[in-house]
Amino acid sequence: MQPNLILEDTIYTLEQLQEIEVPQIALAGRSNVGKSSLINALAGRKNLARISSTPGKTQSINFYKVEPWQYYLVDLPGYGYAKVSKADRQKWAELINQYLISTPGLKALAVLIDSRVPPQQIDIELTSYARQIDLPLIPILTKCDKCKQRERDAKQNEWAKLLGGIRPIMSSASSGLGLDKIWHAFAEHAMD
Ligand code: GTP
Ligand code: MG
Repeated sequence: MQPNLILEDTIYTLEQLQEIEVPQIALAGRSNVGKSSLINALAGRKNLARISSTPGKTQSINFYKVEPWQYYLVDLPGYGYAKVSKADRQKWAELINQYLISTPGLKALAVLIDSRVPPQQIDIELTSYARQIDLPLIPILTKCDKCKQRERDAKQNEWAKLLGGIRPIMSSASSGLGLDKIWHAFAEHAMD
């Protein structure tokens, strides 16, 4: 059954952050990696989450309720975009960090990684941080329609090594590759 996603809440500041106990899976990744596109693809809808070719589009935390399973998918602001002002970047980093450490319902962090570029320092830092705070990781390689099978296999192996054996799920919001596996991984963690 295709789950349904409903936008429940959007927050912009630390003050709006609540300690939500509802089980949730957060999606993080560099700006432009394809977080919002993946949410739309998972929902089977075009315009649920706003997509842009301009990085830094999602500057808020968006909570989507997954029906009928009663957990949230949480779209976090993208990080690491150079053209965003330092003050804004810091504000977002703080918001994400606070969310990660103060959400009792947080079950796992899906880290989205661009399949076309070498592992980036900032992605490695985030995944190490998640492991430090014992937050289960669901690594996902995005935009796999854009690279050759051999290339994405190599990327998957490279990341598996970096993550101590966890293999990223290959995905594409365009072709639908990996969507079933992703739903499966989310449900497994959200309803453990
Ligand atoms: P921020 O909100 O800035 O953090 O970006 P985001 O991670 O939400 O990325 P978004 O989904 O807005 O996508 C960024 C760009 O990548 C858009 O131009 C998308 O069309 C494109 N894109 C996203 N997913 C895919 C994919 O699976 N395949 C291809 N070919 N392009 C994709
Ligand atoms: Mg986005």
